[in-house]
Amino acid sequence: MSDLTAEDGSGPDRQEQGARTQTNADADQAGVINKLATSDAVHISDGPSEAIHSILQPEDRSRIQASVTRSEQGADDASVGAPSLFSTGLNVDDSSDADSSIGDIDRPSSSVSATSSVFDFVEEHGRTFHRYKAGKYFLPNDIPERERLDLQHAIAMRLLGKLALAPVDNPPRVLDIGTGTGIWAIEFANENPASDVLGTDLSPIQPEYVPANCRFEVDDAEDVWVFNDKFDYIHSRFMIAAFSDWPKVFRSCYDNLNPGGWVEFQEYYVEFQCIDDTLSGTALERWNNLILEATGKLRRNGRAAAKFRSQLLAAGFVDVVERKFALPGNAWAKGEREKMLGLMQMTNILDGLQGMSLQLFTRVLGWNAEAVELFLVDVRKDLRNRDIHFYYVVYDVFGRKPTT
Ligand SMILES: C[S@@+](CC[C@H](N)C(=O)[O-])C[C@H]1O[C@@H](n2cnc3c(N)ncnc32)[C@H](O)[C@@H]1O
Repeated sequence: MSDLTAEDGSGPDRQEQGARTQTNADADQAGVINKLATSDAVHISDGPSEAIHSILQPEDRSRIQASVTRSEQGADDASVGAPSLFSTGLNVDDSSDADSSIGDIDRPSSSVSATSSVFDFVEEHGRTFHRYKAGKYFLPNDIPERERLDLQHAIAMRLLGKLALAPVDNPPRVLDIGTGTGIWAIEFANENPASDVLGTDLSPIQPEYVPANCRFEVDDAEDVWVFNDKFDYIHSRFMIAAFSDWPKVFRSCYDNLNPGGWVEFQEYYVEFQCIDDTLSGTALERWNNLILEATGKLRRNGRAAAKFRSQLLAAGFVDVVERKFALPGNAWAKGEREKMLGLMQMTNILDGLQGMSLQLFTRVLGWNAEAVELFLVDVRKDLRNRDIHFYYVVYDVFGRKPTT
């Protein structure tokens, strides 16, 4: 149960109080949001929009630019009900000047060059996918997906506030499993110059030019780990669609950490939450349920994050901390921070929608591609509908391997 209620627009709001201390940049940004919000033109594409780029702060833009310039079940645990058992701090913004339009965007195409077999990506429905262990992971690895991953990184940084919530400072050896475009690993290496950071992934989609203390390898994190040395900090983010056996991953982390080393998982709880009943009966809710059903058939549990804490404890970790963050699905929530996060997350979902749905609906649920595209028209409408007060819960769970 949620303790949230929709505000009526007249009462005091703690986010409004916080807004009084905004910087000029924030105020400018708010103006752009409102301008965006009142635009009638809404165009959908598979790449981040120019509009969303224009409202990002410089640090967000440089993160995304870094990628553009390179050549992106069932609930069986007591804590599964947990997502709604915390105060999200989200309130409905029912002022009339904020819509969720996001501007014009073109659909970029993949231009990855094939230089060796792992770069010789698999193509389907106009998207490309990893070649190493082809078929294991269902999301694409082409330029639009890489741009989406970097946008998702900017969202995570705004939501969590920093790269790592675990108390780490220049840990000697760092591993980022399923590193994607490597954006987290690169930034961690920059912020922790005494660390040696390794990022691994099924896809070799990381940039060539990286900090001297950062490198990447193609590797399947669900295989037996064969690293020569142990690590002092292991990080994993947004791997919910990737791993089918989380306890196995936790055991690999435990076995490959030095005593006293930290592990951290930053993860979506895929089932949408809503502060009221506005999600009920929508195409968006149906889409979310179908995604959970399809991923469940592939043995990916979209609700797995709610079990991380207990599973890390069972694996032997100590000092385990679980934190939950509410991420609005579009610009429905009151407050500049929430509105910005909502706009960014809406773009993120719109950008990932086709890639995720086509694979899952055609291959796993047996739909034909036309029926999927038709259904997605309604899903896109709902995604932009500020009268649907939905949000994601993002978990951050970290723990330490005992020193003895
Ligand atoms: C949603 S992306 C997250 C990327 C990155 N962690 C981030 O937060 O930006 C998931 C990534 O996991 C990779 N992946 C999927 N299954 C994997 C596996 N078994 N081992 C290693 N990487 C995997 C995918 O290729 C993709 O790059």
